[in-house]
Amino acid sequence: MTKVTVVGSGKYGSMTALRVAEFDIADAVVMTDIVEGLPQGLALDMNQSRYVEKFSSKIIGTNNYEDTNDSDVVVITAGLPRKPGMSRMDLLEVNANIVTDVTKNIMNHSNNPIIIVVTNPLDQMTTLVADVSGLPKGRVIGQAGVLDSSRFAYFISEKLNVNMKDINAWTLGSHGETMVPAPSQCTVNGKPLSEFLSYEEINELVKRTSDGGAEIVGLLKTGSAYFAPSSAAATMVKSIISDSNEILPACSWVEGQYGINDVYLGVPTKLGRDGVTEIVEFKLDSEELKNLKSAAESVKNKVSELKDLKTQ
Ligand code: NAI
Ligand code: 2OP
Repeated sequence: MTKVTVVGSGKYGSMTALRVAEFDIADAVVMTDIVEGLPQGLALDMNQSRYVEKFSSKIIGTNNYEDTNDSDVVVITAGLPRKPGMSRMDLLEVNANIVTDVTKNIMNHSNNPIIIVVTNPLDQMTTLVADVSGLPKGRVIGQAGVLDSSRFAYFISEKLNVNMKDINAWTLGSHGETMVPAPSQCTVNGKPLSEFLSYEEINELVKRTSDGGAEIVGLLKTGSAYFAPSSAAATMVKSIISDSNEILPACSWVEGQYGINDVYLGVPTKLGRDGVTEIVEFKLDSEELKNLKSAAESVKNKVSELKDLKTQ
């Protein structure tokens, strides 16, 4: 029996659970939350769409970790958004506590799951889950790059008025300010992006991509993006469960690739049934490589803040 668990049944978690269920790659998709009734109500609603949408995966809404027993893949979306008056460190502390608690519970019920981390701040939370779970590093992966690459692709398609299917877009590094665009790897109809856009124009799209989450938060006023983010997480789940070993820009543990060591960073990653099966080394140009190395340093600095937290 193939089981995927999504922890946190808020906007991101519920949409991810539905997308995974609609792929029809798992027997069960379990959705959990601390709010009683929320995952159950959402699961009931989603299950009632199965007849129309014609998928068999059963969605189970629960507040009980027993239902997550023997999960193959777990997606962690549980966490709080930053609220007015809250410092970045306050948010880090709150979400670190939530993610630590969630990871312990998951590990008490599944022997060897693959965990995809979504909760922000992404680099720190992914590192924390790897530490708390004790899983091999290749079984803990963060989601950022699939989303950012998709946002970048959207802006390219709008700018050039080309079909999304003709675009190949890559962002590496990590989420937000540590995102590293890789224009040398981006193509439109198989031709380099630089044949269509100037350096300045590419930079404008890159800036809008790295601010992509904030732009949506500004429009929504409450809550953050979840349609594109859930597509990203669900695609990673699909690559793992179907063992397709698709190369995706995932936040993976880097050990020597690109001359970078011991850090979770967004790099081209083959994802299959064992988690990370290979970190692929693209031929980046010297500027991109320099930016990737400096993103790695900045992530390491952010991760070191975890040691300053009072709790855990
Ligand atoms: P949301 O507020 O809609 O949902 C979060 C859910 O987590 C709530 O239902 C809450 O009850 C639940 N929760 C809190 N503590 C819990 C616990 N201990 N156990 C189980 N559930 C718990 O937020 P949304 O929009 O779903 O976002 C979730 C996270 O994803 C946030 O941290 C957000 O910043 C992050 N995010 C990350 C992105 C990425 O690219 N990595 C993109 C978009 C959002
Ligand atoms: C996003 O990029 C806020 O991380 C979230 O939409």
